[in-house]
Amino acid sequence: MVTDIMNKEDLKKMAPVFGQLSFDNHEQVVFCNDKDTGLKAIIGIHNTVLGPALGGTRMWQYNSEWDALNDVLRLSRGMTFKSAITGLNLGGGKAVIIGDAKTQKTPELMKRFGEFVHSLSGRYITAEDVGMATSDMDLVRTVTPYVTGISEEKGGAGNPSPITAYGVFMGMKAAAKYAYGSDILEDKTVYVEGIGNVGEALVEHLSNEGAKVYISDINQERLEEVRDKYNVAIYGGNNIYAEDMDIYAPCALGATINDTTIHQLRAKIVAGAANNQLAEELRHGKILQDRGIVYAPDFLINAGGIINVYAELENYGKQEIIRKTENIYNTTLEILKNAEAKDITTHQAALDIAQSRIDARKNEK
Ligand SMILES: NC(=O)c1ccc[n+]([C@@H]2O[C@H](COP(=O)([O-])OP(=O)(O)OC[C@H]3O[C@@H](n4cnc5c(N)ncnc54)[C@H](O)[C@@H]3O)[C@@H](O)[C@H]2O)c1
Repeated sequence: MVTDIMNKEDLKKMAPVFGQLSFDNHEQVVFCNDKDTGLKAIIGIHNTVLGPALGGTRMWQYNSEWDALNDVLRLSRGMTFKSAITGLNLGGGKAVIIGDAKTQKTPELMKRFGEFVHSLSGRYITAEDVGMATSDMDLVRTVTPYVTGISEEKGGAGNPSPITAYGVFMGMKAAAKYAYGSDILEDKTVYVEGIGNVGEALVEHLSNEGAKVYISDINQERLEEVRDKYNVAIYGGNNIYAEDMDIYAPCALGATINDTTIHQLRAKIVAGAANNQLAEELRHGKILQDRGIVYAPDFLINAGGIINVYAELENYGKQEIIRKTENIYNTTLEILKNAEAKDITTHQAALDIAQSRIDARKNEK
């Protein structure tokens, strides 16, 4: 079981699907193509032992189809462990749509995508991810019931991002408690990389608590908007990783902790929303451990969004969503201590607990 970000040439050397390095016994991988709408999507169903595979749809302008496939394989696997560790009866799945969400996403394309989701008869349930909004899920809902993250007006739990951010904030506080003995983030220097839906909501929690917040994003307009709204600083340098900080919060895309950045990193804690933050989870997790950097596992602390969408399937309300999300604090602290006691990486400690829940269910069957 290895996951890795590979360059295009290395990817091509592998067998196209089952031989991919990120292929980890996925149950099903579905390629969806529709000439009329221009839809090119891949749905990855990693594991359905605990329940139907639930995970968002990402629309992204991938450099190649290999990159898209690699992403969906990694992301869907991550969802399996995220739901398992959060105690939800869900399996892991994810979908990627290849294209620019700003210019190529049309209602027709979204509905066509929904029809493909429907054809899987509920083995995969979708939701929003990068490049998607609740309005897109409302469109998908017109052709299939196998969608969550729909708007509150349409009976859904609404945008999951604020809840995801709250869970990340809880996980960050737990990591601070572990590293500094106190979970108060006042005066802690926090760099938030990526201030989209989740990043912005995280900035709000941090600035309310009095943390010294620096933000970075590739979207200049957004940077100025968020700076003015929360009175935080825009990072003006060109290597965020090498900055002196208490907490690095990756909230853009994955693999920002890689061979180039990991030795530059000066943060005491890594805690953010992005999925698959470690380019190579085993090796980079170990380097963080050796360097004494506390890593709050991504799939554990960014589970607020799935808790929020799960409410739509299980019919629980806001109070229960908040309670489950706040529990991320306890689970994170427990896992950080557990990793230390066993002298394993925090990522491994979280994976072990998730895997043991899946194994137990499999044995019951
Ligand atoms: N939305 C959720 O509920 C949720 C749940 C779990 C995990 N996540 C993960 O959290 C991350 C953020 O999700 P989101 O919903 O806020 O997405 P988003 O698309 O709203 O925001 C992403 C932001 O990152 C910025 N960005 C992209 N590349 C960047 C770079 N190289 N440097 C700096 N900024 C960059 C974008 O401009 C954008 O503002 C993603 O990795 C997503 O998979 C989101």
